[in-house]
Parts: sequence; C-alpha cells; structure tokens
Amino acid sequence: MIVIKGSRVVTHDSIIAADIVIGDDGKIATMGRGMRAARSERVEAEGLFALPAAIDSHVHFRDPEDVSKEDFSTGSASALCGGVAAIMDMPNYRNPPTTTVSAYRQKLQIASSKSRCDFLLRFGASEHNQQEAAESGAPQLKVFLTDTKSELSCSKQAAISHFRAFPREKPVCVHAEEQSRIEERQKHYRAHEKIRDKLVARYASEFVLEQARKLNRRVHLCHLTTALEIEMCRQLPNVTYEINPAHLFLSISDLKRLGFLGKVNPPLRDRREQALLWRCIGEDTIIATDHAPHLISHKLEGAPGFPGVGTMLPLMLNAVRQRRLTLEQVARICSYNPARAFRIFSKGEISAGADADIVLVDMKKRWKITAENRLSKCGWTPFEGWEVRGSIEKVFLRGTLAYEGDGKGGGEVLAKPGFGREMKPRQ
Ligand code: DOR
Ligand code: ZN
Ligand code: ZN
Repeated sequence: MIVIKGSRVVTHDSIIAADIVIGDDGKIATMGRGMRAARSERVEAEGLFALPAAIDSHVHFRDPEDVSKEDFSTGSASALCGGVAAIMDMPNYRNPPTTTVSAYRQKLQIASSKSRCDFLLRFGASEHNQQEAAESGAPQLKVFLTDTKSELSCSKQAAISHFRAFPREKPVCVHAEEQSRIEERQKHYRAHEKIRDKLVARYASEFVLEQARKLNRRVHLCHLTTALEIEMCRQLPNVTYEINPAHLFLSISDLKRLGFLGKVNPPLRDRREQALLWRCIGEDTIIATDHAPHLISHKLEGAPGFPGVGTMLPLMLNAVRQRRLTLEQVARICSYNPARAFRIFSKGEISAGADADIVLVDMKKRWKITAENRLSKCGWTPFEGWEVRGSIEKVFLRGTLAYEGDGKGGGEVLAKPGFGREMKPRQ
C-alpha cells in the first residue's frame, strides 16, 4: 500500500485537501484527511497538487513503421515525463499499414512488449477494408480524408461506407481536411498554410458531421483548429473533438522562428483564430497532441508534424499559472474528458476504485522545456527553451511510481518497457 500524504487533489470540478491511499491492486483504495494504512509506504506531497494523469488520445509512436523517429519505448518515456500515463496510438501508414487484422495484432504485440505506459491502438481505414475494420474488434477506427501517400486514405465514398460499417457506438476518428480543395489550391499557392486554409478543414468537418447526423453514429474529430468547427460539433450528441496544444500555443506568427520545423497538418492558423480557439475551451474539450515525431532531416524534406506528448501537460499547467485555465479545467480536458469520450472508465479521475494514475505537480517550480528533457527520439520540440512553471515531480501508473522528476525538467523514467497495458474500453 502507498499513502500520498498532504496533497491537494484536483478533479474535473473541485480541489480538495486529501491523502490518497493506493491499494496493492494499483487502484485508489480511499481518500481523506489523516489517512494511515498499515504497512504502507508514505509519499510526502505537502504543497503539491495531485492531478489525474493525462491521457493523450492521439499519438504516432511510429512502431514498427519508422523506429528511427520514435518507438513505443521512447514515445512512452516521453509521455511519462510529461505526466501522460495512457496513450492512443494511430495506425501506421506503411510497413505494414495497420489496416488489416494481422498488422493490428502484430502491433499489439510490439506495444505490449515495449510500451512503458498504458495504450490503445486505433485501426486504420483504407479505401476497401470496411468489412475487415468493422469485424476486427478494434475499439476505434481512424479515417484520413486527405492523401497520406499510403493506404491510409479514404475517398468520401469510402469514408461513408466505413461510417456505415463500423459499429455505431465505437468512435470513428477523422482527420478532416478536404483533398479536392487542397489540390485546387496547390495550383495557386505555395505556402502550406495558404494551401490548407480554414475552409479545407471546415468543408471536410461539415461532411463528417453530416454523416454522423444522418447515421446517428459516434464520431470524433481530430485536431480542430477553428472555432466554427467546434461550434458545429456541439450541435450533435454523438460527436467529440480534440484540440492540439500546438494550435493553442503557436500561430503563423511563430513560423518565422520555426522555419521548416513549423509545418503541421492542419497548419498553424492566424493569431485571431488562435485566440478564438482558446475561447472555445469548454466542458466538452479534449486536448490531444497528435504527437507526430519526425527527425530534423525529414522535417527538412517537408514532413509535417510536431512531437507533443511530453509537452502537453507542462504547457497546460503553465497556462494555469498565467490564469488562462484552472487546474480543474486541465484535469477535465486532459484526463477526464478523454477517458469518458473513449470509455476508459477506470481512468481520468482521482477517486476510489479508479486506477491510481496520478501526477504530483509543484506549481511553483520553473523549468525550461528542451528536446533533451522531453525524451522523444525525434530530438527536437517546437517549444525549445520555453520557460514554464509547474514541474512534474512524480507520476504513478496503476499505483507504481513510473517517473520521478528532478524538479528542473529532467528526471528518471522508472517504468520499464512492457509495463504498459492495453486499455479495453467498455462498449
Ligand atoms: O502534421 C501531421 N503529421 N498531421 C497528421 O495528421 C499526421 C502527422 C504525421 O503522422 O506525421
Ligand atoms: Zn491528423
Ligand atoms: Zn495524427
């Protein structure tokens, strides 16, 4: 047994002073003041906040597709140093694309032996694998409406048949950008953010939402970048959406500084849209990073995407220090909401009976984000050198100390590859 003494426990709607007792089964046994348990290990947490560990529902750990960029061991290490104890990994594009049951099973084995944090794998939709996807038993499906130079792309017709075939209550998660408009604009513009303008995103999201409404099916829209799309999602009961912190903390004004590193899909938007996105954060928001590691050499060749799993919670905590968010909101949008949306009911909050996935945070300590202390194999971050307040002191995963920070941004990942378990949503 472990007793975390003296912390302030943050839930999605309150902060209470309480000790947390963790049972030998890795679950929270009980909470309250003055807790003592026989034969227990005591963790001193006076002055610290205890948050439910974050869940990043959108990462690309590249295993086994391209392990020069990331793999389950390094990706999950980066997750843990950033207070993320569970991830949802995207299907691979190639080598092999996760569009068949056998590739999915192969990837499950790799994740089980290499991941340090808990995980779930999303199945990939191709033009013709509707039946295989629907019968795979996978908990979620990913549809790309854009050309990914791989099997993992769907025409609108193919997407509609996936929406019809995949079990209605399971989320179909969509990268919504409209390929035909991208192609048209490529004839006239060179700048990435001009080619993939807001309407590229909006038209595709409109298409997806229309189908979700007609078929009354569960849909999740990935990385929304505009207030209008979020407003549209809010009209439908079966729809959830996520915001990538990159679109909250960066805009096209950062492109000067970032240069070729600043390319991402959907692209960074103007400052006005960035401000509107902040205003959209609400009861239903999910933060997910689209952690998309590429080596600098690949970025130089034009690969889109940012690493993000290790910087999501630090950036959100810093936003609390800047009074842009409350700690309760952070617990809601980084933990509680993703757990509920994807039906992982054992996670996402600190309460009796839940998995003891807990992050102890010191909101006073300042530190600097660097690629080195974020631990991703890709070796860079768009937030290099940013000073943030709120240090991740300890991360527990199912009651086991999985990461211990040094209070200066560095620390030690204690969970070994293979410690992570597959999460099974309740359907
Ligand atoms: O910028 C991006 N990179 N957006 C995506 O949707 C995919 C990702 C990747 O896999 O690199
Ligand atoms: Zn995407
Ligand atoms: Zn993605």
